[in-house]
Amino acid sequence: MKFSWLSLSIIACALQITVAAEDGYRLWLRYEPLPGQTIKTYLPHVTSVVASGDSATLEAIRTELIMGCAGMLGNSLPVSKDVDRDGALVAGTPENSPLIAELRWQKSLIGLGAEGFLIRSVKLKGRSVTVIASSGEIGALYGAFHFLRLMQTLQPIDRLDVSQKPRLKLRVLNHWDNLNGSIERGYAGRSLWNWNELPETVDPRLRDYARANASLGINGSVINNVNANSQSLSTEYLRKAAAIAGVFRPYGVRIFLSARFSAPMELGGLKTADPFDPQVATWWKKKADEIYRIIPDFGGFLVKANSEGQPGPRTYNRNHVDGANMLAAALAPHNGIVMWRAFVYDMKPDYDRAGAAYENLQPFDGKFAANVLLQIKNGPIDFQPREPFHPLFGAMPKTQLMPELQITQEYLGFSNHLVYLAPMWREFLDSDTHAKGPGSTVTKIVDGSLDKQKLTGIAGVANTGSDRNWTGHHFAQANWYAFGRLAWDADLPSEAIAEEWVKMTLTCDPEACSALVRLMLESHEALVDYMTPLGLHHIMWGGHHYGPAPWWDKEKRDDWNPIYYHRADERGLGFDRTKTGSNSVMQYHAPVRDRFANVTTCPEKFLVWFHHVPWDFRMRSGRIMWDELALHYQRGVEWVRSARKQWDAMSGVIDLERHAEVAKKLVIQERDAIHWRDSVLLYFQTFSKRPLPEGVEKPQMTLEEYQAKSLTW
Ligand code: GCU
Repeated sequence: MKFSWLSLSIIACALQITVAAEDGYRLWLRYEPLPGQTIKTYLPHVTSVVASGDSATLEAIRTELIMGCAGMLGNSLPVSKDVDRDGALVAGTPENSPLIAELRWQKSLIGLGAEGFLIRSVKLKGRSVTVIASSGEIGALYGAFHFLRLMQTLQPIDRLDVSQKPRLKLRVLNHWDNLNGSIERGYAGRSLWNWNELPETVDPRLRDYARANASLGINGSVINNVNANSQSLSTEYLRKAAAIAGVFRPYGVRIFLSARFSAPMELGGLKTADPFDPQVATWWKKKADEIYRIIPDFGGFLVKANSEGQPGPRTYNRNHVDGANMLAAALAPHNGIVMWRAFVYDMKPDYDRAGAAYENLQPFDGKFAANVLLQIKNGPIDFQPREPFHPLFGAMPKTQLMPELQITQEYLGFSNHLVYLAPMWREFLDSDTHAKGPGSTVTKIVDGSLDKQKLTGIAGVANTGSDRNWTGHHFAQANWYAFGRLAWDADLPSEAIAEEWVKMTLTCDPEACSALVRLMLESHEALVDYMTPLGLHHIMWGGHHYGPAPWWDKEKRDDWNPIYYHRADERGLGFDRTKTGSNSVMQYHAPVRDRFANVTTCPEKFLVWFHHVPWDFRMRSGRIMWDELALHYQRGVEWVRSARKQWDAMSGVIDLERHAEVAKKLVIQERDAIHWRDSVLLYFQTFSKRPLPEGVEKPQMTLEEYQAKSLTW
């Protein structure tokens, strides 16, 4: 077949358009051209790359710096062996770079650890250069990403003196990915790991995944679902996992596996998985030895035991410590760790699910082995739009505690709703537990400073998938980004993180940037307003958890039904967790528990979480609770409408493709917010028997119509 010049140029044009199309694949590592004036000021400081060393990590550092500068500044950086000009970027470690060794920074570098870094503008060989140094190659890679981020966010780079190290040792993504390629609570396509093709074929995309994580300092990835399949520990699957680990390694991302507690039976053919059975312990030891032969830098196990039907030590009348420590003993010779999940809640008559994890685990404080971390969700129920902090934080000073956040939006509108989660995580991290007096924040417990915890970490349930833009919603990328940045530095303000992300991902236009940051910062409160204001929780449709179904009472367990949580009746609304109810509020330290337990001092955002509140209870605004509730729902809807308008007005600033895609999602978000408002208020109105207050719109359908069909996504 012959092409005419015309058709060839059309193809070329089309190709160019495809290449230039902003489909979100490049995440925050777009390296788009910077404003002309900025390029001018940066250029003299970025003239060559001096990063010697043959390792794949050093190669990644060189590639990243060259690619980043080419994109942002339009220059083409030569790789030099030595400093021969002003503006050289010298990157590496004292071991592989004689230039860095010469600087005699070893003491500071050792203090920062193998993941920390220094970035300094200095004179070397009579030249003005920038040095990016670490005692470890991964630290140097993190430094390179940080240097590029400074440019992406238009910061000065001429007089640098940056010194950083991560506060937490383990900064881990949890992938709830199944071996058949599906993802539990995943809303961005299929699993990134193609188990059928592994280990022979490794999707090149996995390198981009590791690179994106490295740009944030995320250093671990649990690649299979906590509802685990024993098969992932089989030799066949370990080889597949090893191929993934090989791609992640140069980027400092170690892999971990979720271990099914009954694997010795399913894989090993044993009759029991009792942790006290010597054969069982031996099976795990041998399994650990095998894993480390195949994956030498394997991180360890994540375990969901005796929770939601998963097997565990209690199946054999043993306790959580017996189970966790047995696995820990198998991994210890290899420096592996166990992340034992605290998400356990057994249904008993009259019990309060919010108090269950504490009851189950707090008595074991100080009993877990040195290489065990207890992985605890941020709140006591289950990743709700808003929860008070989990009472286990502050209650186990002799146990290494690691929070589990959910990046994927299981209860927050899937990948359809624009909601920036950093403010929610900040609220959690900043919560003062008062465990050792005022100032005992969750952050201080988690980073080990309050209780001298050695092993520290944080986990985030990933929102990535095979969708071209990784996370389904372009703005959901910001939550992956924010998780990584907070894992690196748990003190970073939500606003600063949002600002970085917007500049790197969407636009550096100052006006648009500040409008977008504002929208992002407001988005979580708005979602809480239209979904679960005043402390409401778990009123989602059973199973998928997308839309509302506060009327739902069909699940086989009481605590899987919304009516169990909101307890609406003619008198009022809410779960009484004070002494007239379950009294689980006592799990918090004084004075936190006193503040929560008193209906007049309880923060209104947690009001019906802790109290059964009369419909005509006087709120701080002077309004009665019913009116206040209704107005929250209305406010949430109004926020989405205003967000749509603001987004529409940015059509000239944001590229066409992403603008259109986000606009489409905002239409769904508005539809959903209205559905939430109308159906929840109509349902609660059957108890409150009060009219909707002025300012709240008339519902669009009847309660029966809302109840007939779940909101779909
Ligand atoms: C939630 C979620 C489940 C998940 C569980 C867990 O209940 O809906 O899909 O398995 O949390 O964290 O283990």
